[in-house]
Amino acid sequence: MDDIYIDLAKKYGTPLYAYNLNMIKTQIENFLKYFKSDLFDTEISYASKALSIKEIIKVVKSYNLSLDVVSLGECYTAIEAGFNPKNIYFHGNNKTIEEIDYLLKNNVGCVVVDSLDDLANIDMEAKKLKKGINVLVRLNLGIDAHTHKYINTSYIDSKFGIIYKCDEFYSIMDLLYKSKNLKFIGFHSHIGSQIFDLKAYESEIDKFIDVIKDYKEKLVINLGGGFGCRYTLEDSPAPIPVVMKNIITYTENKLKENDLEIAKLMIEPGRSIVCEAGSTIYTIGNIKKTPNRLYYFVDGGMADNIRPALYQAKYEAFIPGAEGKEEVTIAGKCCESGDILIDKVKLPLAKKGDLLVVRSTGAYGYSMASNYNKLLKPAVVFYDLENHTDKLVVERETLKHLLDGEK
Ligand SMILES: Cc1ncc(COP(=O)(O)O)c(C=O)c1O
Repeated sequence: MDDIYIDLAKKYGTPLYAYNLNMIKTQIENFLKYFKSDLFDTEISYASKALSIKEIIKVVKSYNLSLDVVSLGECYTAIEAGFNPKNIYFHGNNKTIEEIDYLLKNNVGCVVVDSLDDLANIDMEAKKLKKGINVLVRLNLGIDAHTHKYINTSYIDSKFGIIYKCDEFYSIMDLLYKSKNLKFIGFHSHIGSQIFDLKAYESEIDKFIDVIKDYKEKLVINLGGGFGCRYTLEDSPAPIPVVMKNIITYTENKLKENDLEIAKLMIEPGRSIVCEAGSTIYTIGNIKKTPNRLYYFVDGGMADNIRPALYQAKYEAFIPGAEGKEEVTIAGKCCESGDILIDKVKLPLAKKGDLLVVRSTGAYGYSMASNYNKLLKPAVVFYDLENHTDKLVVERETLKHLLDGEK
């Protein structure tokens, strides 16, 4: 298994984002198999912010998933990859007029509204362009999903969503029902990310049950994403089949208990589709001993993976073909003391030129990558262990890319 990393590094260089396509497909198949009900329709929308490149969009499309986008750029990427705009859900707390016009002109299927201002802009542009569009209203259900505050989206003063039955909520519904161009189809919420406690989704469903009691029409209910992944051995997320079965059974029971019906139940997984399938392959450069630490410096860092610096995300690493017990710190090459990819990890004594692989970097790694310190963004490769193939899906940046747009 480790040979694949050695082969890919030889062929494409490092740092390199390497995705196991078979794992991505298995994960999608698990979602599709277990997120199903006899009582209501179900729909899975891939949250493309986790990894928004044409290749993953094509994979998602081949399974007939729908797509969550949150910007002009993500929407453009999807459309360029041949994704049917009808199956796109366009999110965002501050959509620009340019974004709204783009999504309307391209016949995007649904827009997720986050405030009255947002809705007023969409209504105004839809009228002007004589376009119709479906609307989901994003609610802040006030659920504490016990995750890091930067990935918890459902606390009381969150910038996302509308509190049910607050003044602004009523104004939104008023405008929606009056609008000739917009069609209200239901509610959305996303309670946070890297959620392990299935009770958090049960609380979310309970809140939605209370909401839908107030409506005569059968609504679409979108529970958002956030299904936990395994970054390190300390993480023990329930397997997707268990999580999906739990959500479906819980929803079915609650609907029956309350004699309610919904049109459709949706989820929006992002990281759980791509996280564990992705690894970053680095080359170890300089090695340094300080009084209390042994540092391995790698040829990337916070520019290709900002998550440790941004929200103390934890990762595991290994040196292909070797095991060891040295406690080391993996640091990147950026000029920031916070550029530590892994604070403490047990590895063999390494030497300059050894490869080092950081696991589970598939979500929000490439998509949050920057050119800080004018580092070049790594290439992205998808490999298929069943068919013994690999494919370069994003080229490594060159120095020329760095000056694109500079006068
Ligand atoms: C609205 C919405 N849906 C889905 C997701 C995907 O979350 P995750 O990647 O944790 O599954 C996010 C993540 O930020 C989100 O904001």
